[in-house]
Amino acid sequence: MAGKKPDQAAVAARIPAGATLAQVRRLAADCKACGLWRNATQTVFGEGAERPAVMLIGEQPGNQEDLQGRPFVGPAGRVLDRALEAAGIGRDAVYITNAVKHFKWTRKGKLRIHQKPSAQEIEACRPWLDAEIALTRPKVVVCLGATAAQAMLGSKFRLTHHRGEFFSIAQKPPVTATVHPSAVLRAPTDEERHAMTQQLIDDLKVVARKLRKVGP
Ligand code: URA
Repeated sequence: MAGKKPDQAAVAARIPAGATLAQVRRLAADCKACGLWRNATQTVFGEGAERPAVMLIGEQPGNQEDLQGRPFVGPAGRVLDRALEAAGIGRDAVYITNAVKHFKWTRKGKLRIHQKPSAQEIEACRPWLDAEIALTRPKVVVCLGATAAQAMLGSKFRLTHHRGEFFSIAQKPPVTATVHPSAVLRAPTDEERHAMTQQLIDDLKVVARKLRKVGP
């Protein structure tokens, strides 16, 4: 598939009407709609509550996630877990996934360094994300970082301008976006790290309040 145009329609065509989430997960395990599968260990599909209050969408699996086959199990996941706890959102109320399901990386010495997925790679993966949203029907979708936010809200979306706002999209739950936990880890100073952690917690607290309004 390398060098071939990513084929979103081919992915969508592989998802039969009436498929369950478990069936979609199995189909995604063989996804070759773009070239990222070649260098990745495995597809990292979403996981969590069957009927989540919140769906969290990250960018793509990191090094640990690629090896373990589960989203947000590395250092960024630990930042996220602490922020969810501080905001009063239980992990049992959450389904967590990524806009792109394969790890995109480049080698630097012994390390595998994350590379940002392209618009085409995000587009190719989109049917899996749409299926996850349609089948789990979360009350609120929270995009973690600009990649997920742009996947859901369009390429013009700017986190710096619209962080924490809620957006309505046809046939989707309300969508909001906050800082990515990896951005917290990359913050150059303690002060900035602290400020970004607080933004993440504050935005998740707004989500928790919205959920209380929406009800069960
Ligand atoms: N960063 C992401 O966006 N997703 C993960 O699963 C891990 C790190």
